[in-house]
Amino acid sequence: MNTHQPDHSAYFAFRDQLLGPLRTTVLTSQQLCEAGRLIYGHEAGLSLYGIPAADMAPKGITLLGRTVIECSVDDYTAPVADALAALQAASQPQGPDAGNPLIADLFCGSGNFGHHLGQRLMRAVHAAELDPAVFGTARNNLDRIGSAITLRLTDYRDLLRELPARSTHDTYVVEPPWGPAFTAAGLDLTRTSPPVPEILDDIRRSRDGLPCHIAIKTNDQIAHDSLDRSFTGARHLATITPAPSLPSGANMDFHLYELHG
Ligand SMILES: C[S@@+](CC[C@H](N)C(=O)[O-])C[C@H]1O[C@@H](n2cnc3c(N)ncnc32)[C@H](O)[C@@H]1O
Repeated sequence: MNTHQPDHSAYFAFRDQLLGPLRTTVLTSQQLCEAGRLIYGHEAGLSLYGIPAADMAPKGITLLGRTVIECSVDDYTAPVADALAALQAASQPQGPDAGNPLIADLFCGSGNFGHHLGQRLMRAVHAAELDPAVFGTARNNLDRIGSAITLRLTDYRDLLRELPARSTHDTYVVEPPWGPAFTAAGLDLTRTSPPVPEILDDIRRSRDGLPCHIAIKTNDQIAHDSLDRSFTGARHLATITPAPSLPSGANMDFHLYELHG
């Protein structure tokens, strides 16, 4: 047996644990390191806010099982933030407060995506998280790292209502839970909760016709053409594909779009 091959069956069993019995349990340091090895092929692959798994507990970082599987880690979000920064540097923003664009992390989870975008683009970040348990750990972690993210325990639609459009460089992170949208056939973005097309409609409605940027995570196997169908009428700007560590269908891709009103 080749001992260098990652044990994918162990990954899928661990994933079931994280989304099942360990869903709202704060993981131990050992479990965080195990998650790094099983999901990313090495312990430090699980790294959030610039803090690798082994350093999380000593630094007071707490993560629930569900967030460990749902989060977008540093190695993924930092390149997405770089790509977005390059795209925005190449275009002149328009809008009522064009030079002061907002970042809204609508499904915050760990808050790591908003954290990287805010740092890279040097902007204030607003975030919404609906699950009180996830909110509690995110609040703790963002305080520990001295983050200025404005985090609310609320539905993303409430956050949208509070954030009028400022600039064509306003950016929304759209990472709803996948749940039944993720099957052997791939990820169906019309079946996430809430469905991605519904979230995009909510964003459009909040913006009075002003275009904006969207960052979204998918896996590497989209079902029913649902990414293109969800973003009909939007302009694809970039896709960032991290090095795969899992079988096809279980790895992540990130996409940037310009959404029109
Ligand atoms: C896939 S996770 C987001 C992961 C996050 N981007 C990260 O890097 O950690 C989705 C999160 O959205 C939260 N959520 C689900 N429905 C929501 C809603 N209607 N409004 C705000 N947050 C919601 C869930 O509790 C969960 O923590």
